[in-house]
Amino acid sequence: MVEFFFELITCFGTFWTLGITSEMRAWQNGRGGHLQRALILQSSSASVRVAPYENLLSHTRFLLTLRSQEGKYHSLILFRLSTGDDTQLPNVSQRSDLHSYQQLYAMESACPHLGADMSHAEIEECEDSVVVVCPWHRYDFDLRTGESETGLRACTYTVKVEPHEKDGVYKVWVEAPDNSGWQLVELRPVSEAFADLPPAVANSIPESVPSVPIKLSEDLVPSNGAPCTLMEWAVLILNTSDPMLKVERTKHAVHLFRTGQITSIGHKSKRAPQPPAIPPRDDNYTRNIVDPRKLGKRKNAAVMLHALANIEQWAWDIMVRFGPSHPEIPSAFFSDFSRMALDESKHFSLLVSRLSEISPSTPYGSLPVHAGLWESAATTANSLRARLAIIHLVHEARGLDVNPGTIERFRRSGDLESVKVLQVIHHDEVTHVTSGHRWFTWICQQQGVDPVKTFREEVRRGWRGEIKGPFNVDAREIAGMTRDFYEDLRGDMDTVSNHGASETLKDVNARSAGYQSSAPSLHVGYEK
Ligand code: FES
Repeated sequence: MVEFFFELITCFGTFWTLGITSEMRAWQNGRGGHLQRALILQSSSASVRVAPYENLLSHTRFLLTLRSQEGKYHSLILFRLSTGDDTQLPNVSQRSDLHSYQQLYAMESACPHLGADMSHAEIEECEDSVVVVCPWHRYDFDLRTGESETGLRACTYTVKVEPHEKDGVYKVWVEAPDNSGWQLVELRPVSEAFADLPPAVANSIPESVPSVPIKLSEDLVPSNGAPCTLMEWAVLILNTSDPMLKVERTKHAVHLFRTGQITSIGHKSKRAPQPPAIPPRDDNYTRNIVDPRKLGKRKNAAVMLHALANIEQWAWDIMVRFGPSHPEIPSAFFSDFSRMALDESKHFSLLVSRLSEISPSTPYGSLPVHAGLWESAATTANSLRARLAIIHLVHEARGLDVNPGTIERFRRSGDLESVKVLQVIHHDEVTHVTSGHRWFTWICQQQGVDPVKTFREEVRRGWRGEIKGPFNVDAREIAGMTRDFYEDLRGDMDTVSNHGASETLKDVNARSAGYQSSAPSLHVGYEK
């Protein structure tokens, strides 16, 4: 199968070229297998190759993210209906076999009615049709034609399975939205489990993330004033100071949202709730907050895992902070960031679980942590464009640069279980930067400004110092961050206005319990 990626392919009369990156080579060498979902496939026609059919047997639904040459995005859902024995591949010599294996359908991931995420929609198979039922208002759409009895029509795309003429491996292709040179930048399984794991590691890490025994400090759903909208859940979660409860509430809220048990995002309401300036933390987790400059180098595995677990839930914050001021934003924004919120919770659970296994005497909260990332949150609190640029395309993109080195350190130490965990996190973070790029380019398009030029202006205004390399150019490019975004760039935050941000770092520090030092230099949260 691997050789497949190193060919020029002719299929459906179409000539294809493949973007071969060093990470693909790492994949070929048995390292970084999780990256197979993010290969860049470039086409010159209106079809996009998805994956070998065999790779789609792990799940029945996949989220496909396509990006055009102009930086536009399309999110599709690929449904694979059961064909009886899913483990059997068609017989290459019997082309009639193909028909029964083509129970594959693709449609836009957002419902054409009010934009619900269709990834968890029900499928109903009737005698002569297959319909998908939207979880929000139960409109049904024929998966073959997109037609609905309501008169609305969903965009559906033809899916084909073809054996490759040389190796006979069956590959799946999906019709592209138009001739804009679409690339597949994400192929992500959708599951009912806590969060979706890449197929390459799904066999080695259970989908139900192992967790340390937890005792929730409050009811999962408050008995008084239970949230009704996604915005209300976001504020509740941000105000939840116990990180374990925060994880459980995130899982619950995203499940409700995906399955249509929350049908209102709530960002257009005049009564949309406000996020906290700084999310509270339990005393147990704040007593060790220190000045980032005093953390020093991470010396051992437990300290490193503890530091990596010290993440914030940016995704909930961006939804509730900026959703109400952008009522025109598509619902796909909330689908993307609720998925990211679930990922952040998954990462926390994986890291805390791993920490408890390798160092039971230093559970999460027992080692020093810092709150340095909130400086960037404060300086971007009044601008969605600035928030996307600084948090998602600077901080998170920096994570892509340093993750391979961190993974390698664990590999060299022989801790392969932690390697698997960090590979999952790295893969997800590529998709987070992709989402940051998607919505940054969206808002630039709304405002009629150039994304690259505007990103560089935002960095000059909201960042202090050089954007440091070395860069993981390949992972950044998969995420849409080409070199012209970040090379030869430095910020002048102290001398340039930053959107009139209402809080300074000192305000942030004053609010952050236990963090009384003078303002530290900016700490990016990732270390080389
Ligand atoms: S039926 Fe899908 S959003 Fe209303």
